[in-house]
Formats: sequence, structure tokens, C-alpha cells
Amino acid sequence: MNSTAGRSYPSPGKSSCFSGLVEKSVLDSLFRDLPGDAEAGQDSPTLRDWFSELLSRCLKTEEFDHALSAARNFVPKLGNPIFSTPLVATGFHRLSLLGIYPAKPIPLHDHPNASGAQMVLSGRALVRQYDTGPEVSGNSTLIYLQAALEREFGAADISSVTPGARNIHGLAAITDNAVLLSIQQPPCDRAGQSWFFPVDPLRWDKPLLLCHRVNRKARANIGG
Ligand SMILES: [Fe+2]
Repeated sequence: MNSTAGRSYPSPGKSSCFSGLVEKSVLDSLFRDLPGDAEAGQDSPTLRDWFSELLSRCLKTEEFDHALSAARNFVPKLGNPIFSTPLVATGFHRLSLLGIYPAKPIPLHDHPNASGAQMVLSGRALVRQYDTGPEVSGNSTLIYLQAALEREFGAADISSVTPGARNIHGLAAITDNAVLLSIQQPPCDRAGQSWFFPVDPLRWDKPLLLCHRVNRKARANIGG
């Protein structure tokens, strides 16, 4: 059972249907084909086919519908700002359902050494993507991010991150809750992950965005 926002959902990922779709070799080839250039696109025919098969073959279950409804109707609570429930989670990948409430965007964060893709299932999401930019000499907590892409994504649109391109992203729901199906390989290295909080207001017309970088070690030092 998965627990999100104090409620539990049976995992549709326990179905054997998933095994072929999330084999390491399958995911390796999915992500190998992803474009490195944000302007060239975020997805590939292979990736679209993979999501389509997942949704039509494996996720036609009452359990998934229940989780989907919970994500669409999710309201944040203290300490629980987003809806996130794993459907399949192993040592080398994680498939999860995300629900983002309009007033609680997911801040900019990275995915060290990981690839990932997110398909919007309902609602609309504003996705901002960045690459790591120059560091600030003498201050290890400040870093510039290089703007890669800002775009609205609607139903069936897919955004992606790769280890070397647009690895940092932030997602915000516009209009109603945005619900996304997310696959990441390998799963998030939480110990190595950083969050980025802009020093100045977020302005897309600036190619470089100066941010405070906060990682688990920094949070531990300040007691956060
Ligand atoms: Fe992410």
C-alpha cells in the first residue's frame, strides 16, 4: 500500500503487467533517444509509445483511477505540499503519480545523474528547465542556473530531463491541479539532490538565474 496525504492506495504497480515495460533495457533505450537540445523537443516517438502502452495496458485499474482522482482533488496540507505516490519503485527506477496544486508549485530541483520523463494526464503545467551554470567564487551556496526552456504543457504533453541537459526543473500548475505520470531512472538520489531558490524574482528573460542552492547537507547544518 502507498500512503499519500494521510490516505492509502493499493499499488497498481504490483501487477505483472509492468514488468516488461520497466525492464532496465527498455528504460535505457527510452532515455538514450531523448534529445539533448531543449529546442529540439522533450520527447521521442518511443517515449510517447511507452507512455501510451503503460496507460492503455497497465493502468486501466480501479486502483489507478482512485489514485488519479485523489491527485486531481488533492489539497496541500502542512508538510505535505504535493501529491506523490509511487506506482512502481525499485533500486533502478521509480514510476509515480504527481498532483500539483496551483498555489504550491514544485520548486526548482535537480536529478543528479538521472533521466526522467513526465507526461501530463490532466490540467496544465508550467515547466521551467535549467542547466547548471557558473558557480559563484567564494560562496558555495550560490550558483547560476542557465535557462533552457519555459513552456506550458497540457494533456499528453511530455517533458523530460537527462543527466546532461535540462536536469533542473520546476513545475507549477496553472488553472486546476496538474496531474503527471513520472518515470525516473535511477530513482532520486535524495542525499545528492539540491533545491534552487532564486535570489531575484523568477524572470524568464534573464539567461542566468542566481539561486541559493540547498541540499540535504546544507539543510542539516541549518536544522531545516
Ligand atoms: Fe523533478
